[in-house]
Amino acid sequence: MGAMTDPSPWWSRAVFYQVYPRSFRDSNGDGVGDLDGVTAGLDYLADLGVDALWLNPVTVSPMADHGYDVSDPRDIDPLFGGIEALDRLVAAAHERGIRITMDLVPNHTSSAHPWFAAALAAGPGSAQRARYLFRDGTGPGGVNPPNNWISIFGGPAWTRVVERDGAPGQWYLHLFDPEQPDLNWDNPEVFEDLEKTLRFWLDRGVDGFRIDVAHGMAKPPDLPDMQLAENKLLADMDSDPRFNHEGVHDIHRNIRAVLNDYPDAVAVGEVWVYDNAAFAAYLRPDELHLGFNFRLVRAEFGADEIRDAIENSLAAVALQDATPTWTLSNHDVEREVTRYGGGPLGLARARAMALVMLALPGVVFVYNGEELGLPNVDLPDEVLQDPVWERSDRTERGRDGCRVPLPWSGDAPPFGFSTTADTWLPMPADWASSTVERQLADPESTLHFFRRALRLRRDRSGVVGAELTGLSSEDGVLTVQTEGGLRCVLNAGAHPVDLPAGEVLLTSAPLQEHSPSLRSPRPGRLPPNAAAWVL
Ligand code: NOJ
Repeated sequence: MGAMTDPSPWWSRAVFYQVYPRSFRDSNGDGVGDLDGVTAGLDYLADLGVDALWLNPVTVSPMADHGYDVSDPRDIDPLFGGIEALDRLVAAAHERGIRITMDLVPNHTSSAHPWFAAALAAGPGSAQRARYLFRDGTGPGGVNPPNNWISIFGGPAWTRVVERDGAPGQWYLHLFDPEQPDLNWDNPEVFEDLEKTLRFWLDRGVDGFRIDVAHGMAKPPDLPDMQLAENKLLADMDSDPRFNHEGVHDIHRNIRAVLNDYPDAVAVGEVWVYDNAAFAAYLRPDELHLGFNFRLVRAEFGADEIRDAIENSLAAVALQDATPTWTLSNHDVEREVTRYGGGPLGLARARAMALVMLALPGVVFVYNGEELGLPNVDLPDEVLQDPVWERSDRTERGRDGCRVPLPWSGDAPPFGFSTTADTWLPMPADWASSTVERQLADPESTLHFFRRALRLRRDRSGVVGAELTGLSSEDGVLTVQTEGGLRCVLNAGAHPVDLPAGEVLLTSAPLQEHSPSLRSPRPGRLPPNAAAWVL
């Protein structure tokens, strides 16, 4: 591993596969996926052709937000198999040339973290409280929260504590769940502890991190009120005082200084910042290696919208000569099959968009189940687990629908995911046709399609995923052209279109034959909601 002669880092055109560990594969029959389950799936992932994994949080947690509430950042939760299971996974992945990156959650801890317990016990004004954002309330007796900030999950971003004498006391800030108190990043102890965590995992052989809420952490000192109009997880947060405060860049510089001691390590930040210059600031040479660009996630299925998303993503990274990243979905958003219309239409569009994404230069993130063409699942109220559901007074269903366990084999739930049918989220019976087993047996399946696309991206790297030489949209047709002459054509319009002359490397749907009388040298016609790679 680590090509000594290649000046570009291993991740510069990597395909990352995002594993939501609860939902990938369960090795011990408790209905929840775990790290030995991921290890058992490594051959599947190697055959798929991925270069690296991003594991959603597996550190010790009460799981109020499924691991994004960390109570010990330097150990693995027993639910996922403990630290030995991580060691086994890292070793087995490295044997197959697959890198492992972990989620790092620096914006907040769990309320079960020993620091928070100590802060509650120590009282106002103490050094223990100074690791978090405790403030006195406003109004008579401090009955009102210190400002009007609301939690991303709904409800106020402040919770009032009861002091040791039993009286109502100070308030603490939590941009997410009350069980996720925000850390005070002005306190040097907070970074000292994060540095320990970074080195702990890197010394154990982990290859890098996905940094949660990488545009959070720093807060404006006076904590000014926010505009309350928009408070969605995906909302445009550029003018939101809760995020993207200038001080965050010093934090990233400090993180990078540690990572520089591990030359192969990579950090990719979750940066929900839309202005190109503001986004690019996170990618300065001494900050993050990579930033998630969510423009493709937000784009409607339309040639102009997708061209605009690609153009802006490239323009942003160009400002810092950084590497672009692409993603169509993750554990926080509705799966793209559903976003694009659901059913066969949604699936056709999702496959087409996968070809567009995989044609682009830089780093690609594939979310587990995307390669199976899984849709979002409409779950009944009583099984919902995402804190968003309760925190929004049951007005937002939350993100469980994109987190349902993966179907591996067999004709009925749990489809080989687990040995118990009592999986942490129920699996739909009609996923029988989407299992890995069924798709491996069908050469036209979405799984085989992804395998072919990933293989071409790896084997034909001079053309697939090479630098762009052209990008246009006209009459519902998007054309992406790369160095080496690949044309990726996406037909987002209503009628079949002619493809350019050349060798068809891959299509997301069967082409339509020209009428034989035409004797065209061109390949067949590309139907609507499909894409093709032509060389
Ligand atoms: C972003 C993560 O992707 C999401 O799942 C989580 O709930 C929040 N950050 C809070 O950590």
